Amino acid sequence: MLKWKDDYLLGIDKIDEQHKELFRVAERAYNLLKSNYFVDKYNKIVEIIGKLKDYTIFHFQEEEKYMLSIKYKRFFAHKIEHDEFIEQLNKVELKDVDENQDKYILGLLEFVVKWINDHIIGQDLKIIED
Ligand SMILES: [Fe+2]
Repeated sequence: MLKWKDDYLLGIDKIDEQHKELFRVAERAYNLLKSNYFVDKYNKIVEIIGKLKDYTIFHFQEEEKYMLSIKYKRFFAHKIEHDEFIEQLNKVELKDVDENQDKYILGLLEFVVKWINDHIIGQDLKIIED
């Protein structure tokens, strides 16, 4: 799974910290998925993924506030990406996943982390270009 790297740094402390936290939370879920020591690991993973989703929504709001504060000209295109991702996350129903649970959760985590990676590289870093 992709890990945090300094290439993601925008130089805006609050946003950088939130991006790091997103990777930390995803990694926590991933490590738990790989571990064999927790009897109730799926409940915990579902809880962490719920947290990841909530934190993502919170983070997008904070990032959008920042973009508005600097009158960022590509704000709407950027917000559309945020909104579409939240819509995709809202469609995920972890409770319904019984068969191949590990494979499904792993696929979901990889999708989320890859999206965050692509979004930081493709969109967030543009914020500091102007
Ligand atoms: Fe963003």
